[in-house]
This record gives sequence, structure tokens and C-alpha cells, in this order.
Amino acid sequence: MAIIVIVFLGYNFFIYTQKPPIEVQKMSEIAIRGEKIYQDNNCTACHQFYGLGGYLGPDLTNVISEEGKGAMYVKAFLNSGIKSMPQFNFSEEEKEALVAFLEAVDETGHYPIYEATHNYGWVSIKYKK
Ligand code: HEC
Repeated sequence: MAIIVIVFLGYNFFIYTQKPPIEVQKMSEIAIRGEKIYQDNNCTACHQFYGLGGYLGPDLTNVISEEGKGAMYVKAFLNSGIKSMPQFNFSEEEKEALVAFLEAVDETGHYPIYEATHNYGWVSIKYKK
């Protein structure tokens, strides 16, 4: 019994004093402000990150790095609105913060991770990055 207790204590000490295997990345202050604006304005009611969210608008995971899109593109959508996307009267600082948040999200990975095309009933998949 004593051995089990000692092994248990040793194991717990080992587990709880380990450093995490990866550094936890913190978002910049401006990106955190952008996240708050994203939440307060309910962007997620219509948009998704990694496929999760509302489905009225497109997925925004990689809207910054996608070809032909980026910061100016996002700001243009916020300024003008289109179809069911409402127009937002954000200040330049608020738009910058939202872009910083979307950049931080974009840096976390790709969604979807592949492009699938089909040809005569066969699907071929090309993985992105
Ligand atoms: C009521 C639903 C709705 C809300 C809320 C909404 N959007 Fe949209 N959004 C849309 C729709 C629909 C589109 C697609 C418009 C089109 O392309 O015709 C869109 C498009 C976009 C695009 C362009 C995406 C691309 O890949 O082309 C961006 C960027 C965007 N929205 C950002 C936001 C942000 C940021 C917020 C929150 C501040 C937000 N949206 C809130 C519906 C919404």
C-alpha cells in the first residue's frame, strides 16, 4: 500500500511540475479587443471559424490570407455590408482590432485543409500547406 501511495505522489509531482510541451501563445491586446467586438456584434451568428458557427455567411478562418482577400477586403465588407451582411459603423480603430483578431485566427491553421475536386465520379484531394 505504501508503495502505491509513493508511486501515486511521485507521479502527481512529476505531472504537475512539468512545463507544457508547447508555449501557450497569447493574442495581442488589439486582437483581444477585436475578439470582443466580434462577440459583441454577433458575427458568429452568421460566420464560422473552422466550420463552427452560423451558416448565413462564409467561414472566416482564412479570410486574411486567402488570395484576393485580406485586411482591406474585410474592412470593405464592414463598411458597406452586402445582401444579408449588415453594414457596421465601426471606427477605424475597431476595424483594425477586428482585422488583428482575424489575423490571429488565421495564423492558427487552415480550414478546410484540402481542396477536393471530382472528375467522372472520382474525388481527388489537394492538401493546402
Ligand atoms: C446577419 C448575418 C451576418 C452578420 C451578423 C455578419 N455577417 Fe459578415 N457576411 C454575411 C454574409 C451573408 C456574407 C456574404 C455576402 C456575400 O458575399 O454576398 C458576409 C461576408 C463577410 C465577409 C467576407 C467574407 C469572404 O470570404 O468573402 C467578411 C470579412 C465578414 N462578412 C465579416 C463579418 C464580421 C467581422 C462581422 C461582425 C462584426 C459580420 N461579418 C457579421 C452575413 C453576416
